[in-house]
Amino acid sequence: MHTAMSETMLFPLSGRRVWVAGHRGLVGSALVRRLAREDCEILTAGRDSLDLRSPDQVDLWMKNVRPEAVFVAAAKVGGIHANDTQPATFLYDNLMIEANVIEAARRYGVEKLLFLGSSCIYPRLSPQPIPASALLTGALEPTNEWYAIAKIAGLKLCQAYRRQYGCDFISLMPTNLYGPGDNFDLQQSHVVPALIAKAHQARVTGAVSLSVWGSGTPLREFLHVDDAADGIVFAMQHYSGETPLNLGSGEEISIGDLARMICHITGYSGRIAFDITKPDGTPRKVVDGNALRTLGWQASTSLETGLRQTYRWYLDHAGLSGHTGTSGPRRAYG
Ligand SMILES: NC(=O)c1ccc[n+]([C@@H]2O[C@H](COP(=O)([O-])OP(=O)(O)OC[C@H]3O[C@@H](n4cnc5c(N)ncnc54)[C@H](OP(=O)(O)O)[C@@H]3O)[C@@H](O)[C@H]2O)c1
Repeated sequence: MHTAMSETMLFPLSGRRVWVAGHRGLVGSALVRRLAREDCEILTAGRDSLDLRSPDQVDLWMKNVRPEAVFVAAAKVGGIHANDTQPATFLYDNLMIEANVIEAARRYGVEKLLFLGSSCIYPRLSPQPIPASALLTGALEPTNEWYAIAKIAGLKLCQAYRRQYGCDFISLMPTNLYGPGDNFDLQQSHVVPALIAKAHQARVTGAVSLSVWGSGTPLREFLHVDDAADGIVFAMQHYSGETPLNLGSGEEISIGDLARMICHITGYSGRIAFDITKPDGTPRKVVDGNALRTLGWQASTSLETGLRQTYRWYLDHAGLSGHTGTSGPRRAYG
């Protein structure tokens, strides 16, 4: 996954107390798996005992626990419908979570913090691949602008705390993620888990065709969540700067080819019917991940391998009944 950079590591995690905020989520749980390979103490707290929207709870926890490094993988996430129906919750929860964690990290002398945003912070009509310099150069995608505005505020907080207080706070913008722990609920899921659940269902029921939204031509980039966790840990160790880093696989695929690959993996041999009455979205969306690649990191899981592994996870956790619409253990993200 990464080349021999350890000699130039800026911030080794070894021996440090490391808090993963949001450790039960798709990204947070992958981070905990990845950090188990570092010689560090992993700190976690569930929402039941620590509501990150509460400044008092966050302050008290930080005061008592004193992490030295923090990954902010906690967020209120959801798809188009959730963003549309709960705009206030998306703005409020995310602003509070990031402001509380970042301010408490400053107050209690956290040495390094990594804030996670997403590629939806970039303008809807960004150049492709999307460079970090595209930030705030145009209008956002309206379907998730509440979420995106809060995430932009989070990365700006990191920049502001770096400038005003000298805090080593960085931010990272991953591309679309998929993998074990994903949400397979068709009401909320992203394209990869949705297609896996639908193709599985189509095979189990012997359906003659599988409907896929849009023309199948848009190009998208996907990153396995374990690769993402590896890239996030790598960035924590090797990057210190104000500019947000993009995190991508660099591997693009059309939605049509993705659907064909998933049908093959799930064993569905019926017809794929592209529903062109449904919107395609932007023709191409891929982040420019060169900055992280130049530092020495790149993804190592091919899409086909990652999809096979994710389908196995789905079968073990959500697909046994043969029904779709079964939630994975958690998460929804838009
Ligand atoms: N998934 C992707 O495709 C993707 C792509 C790019 C970027 N990202 C970024 O990665 C980050 C994590 O996303 P994810 O997909 O891992 O989301 P997720 O699966 O929904 O996990 C979010 C986590 O945040 C926790 N959380 C939310 N509100 C909280 C609160 N008030 N107090 C305490 N904990 C709270 C949740 O706790 P509970 O377990 O208690 O609900 C959960 O553990 C987000 O910033 C997202 O933008 C994700």
